[in-house]
Amino acid sequence: MCRTVLGMADEPALLAEDLQKSFRGKRALAGLDLRVAPGTVHGVLGPNGAGKTTAVRILTTLLPPDGGRARVLGFDVVRQADELRARIGLTGQYAAIDDRLTGLENLEMFGRLYRLRTRVARARAHELLERFDLADAAGRQARTYSGGMRRRLDLAASLIINPPVLFLDEPTTGLDPRSRAAMWRVVEELVGEGTTVLLTTQYLEEADRLAHRISVIDGGRVIAEGTVDELKARTGGSRLDLVLAEGEPGEVDAARDVLARFGTGPVSVEAAARRVSVPVAGASVLSEVVRALDAAGVTLEDVALHRPSLDDVFLSMTGHRASSGSDSDGSDSDGSGGDDSGGAGSGGDGPAEQGTAGAASQADLSGASRDDVSVVKA
Ligand SMILES: Nc1ncnc2c1ncn2[C@@H]1O[C@H](COP(=O)(O)OP(=O)(O)O)[C@@H](O)[C@H]1O
Ligand SMILES: [Mg+2]
Repeated sequence: MCRTVLGMADEPALLAEDLQKSFRGKRALAGLDLRVAPGTVHGVLGPNGAGKTTAVRILTTLLPPDGGRARVLGFDVVRQADELRARIGLTGQYAAIDDRLTGLENLEMFGRLYRLRTRVARARAHELLERFDLADAAGRQARTYSGGMRRRLDLAASLIINPPVLFLDEPTTGLDPRSRAAMWRVVEELVGEGTTVLLTTQYLEEADRLAHRISVIDGGRVIAEGTVDELKARTGGSRLDLVLAEGEPGEVDAARDVLARFGTGPVSVEAAARRVSVPVAGASVLSEVVRALDAAGVTLEDVALHRPSLDDVFLSMTGHRASSGSDSDGSDSDGSGGDDSGGAGSGGDGPAEQGTAGAASQADLSGASRDDVSVVKA
């Protein structure tokens, strides 16, 4: 019967206005606004400690806000929490599954939590195990599952009731590239079937692939909102970095002049390091730049083209690196977000699923520090 709400032309599936939340005087949300259209994926992108999990917990009725309002499918997250809970799915930052139960038992348990009759719960469990490529592992204890399998089981659990709105809190953090890609395909399928998804992530690439619109958050509030293309345009595309070979001092000036012709922003020069860089629109200028440098008599030691990372987005929007504002919050906030499952996620991730090399190639907000954590865990 909530379909009437969904069907109203300009009623968003999710609307949050000026959400506020503090923990022991420390602000986690400082006036967060979100608006998500039905049937779309909305990415919430931000570094550790930005407030993503806090927002998700409020929007899924698990935590009351200190101030502000939020409605999901037209239901107020505080006053109509019970009605809302029956209509949403949540996959938390850490797997909420029970390690001692098998995959099948886990899903049956969730089915019963949603008050499905035993037979219905079992049938639904089998259907989901099949769908998420877990049928072969249905009878194995979840603790034997790889990280990717656990996430898929966790996602399956949140889909028991086929919710019209699904919350995914960092669903692929720590997964290897193959498991991540599998997760992305599943999410795309769900959206193809009309599910509205709110997805938090630290990965620009993930938001890029899945999200129709993105809210970039920092310090508990939205600092930018738009489509992926809109956000990228604001960061000025890629950045071209040159290191010149030892040679005439005039070559640095010559390189600067060449880059000024091809760049989309100011050229920066570190004369002592013979390093010159400039933002460029894309990879297509690379060969032209190299030819022009050659014609100008500049010899190169190194050329690199960097796609903008989310860190670059942050730097350009806030003037600070994303990682600098979240220092020790990293593991701390991860812990708080996963307090209901006691950090079971890290213990169960098999080394093969850690994929640090793959993670490093992502535009990763928390950059080296998160990859270092993965190396330690593996
Ligand atoms: N239960 C809690 N108790 C105390 N502080 C918390 C709690 N949950 C979150 N915080 C703090 O609120 C801020 C936002 O955390 P969180 O919402 O988990 O961010 P994110 O999910 O973006 O990493 C962080 O500074 C975090 O340490
Ligand atoms: Mg979080």
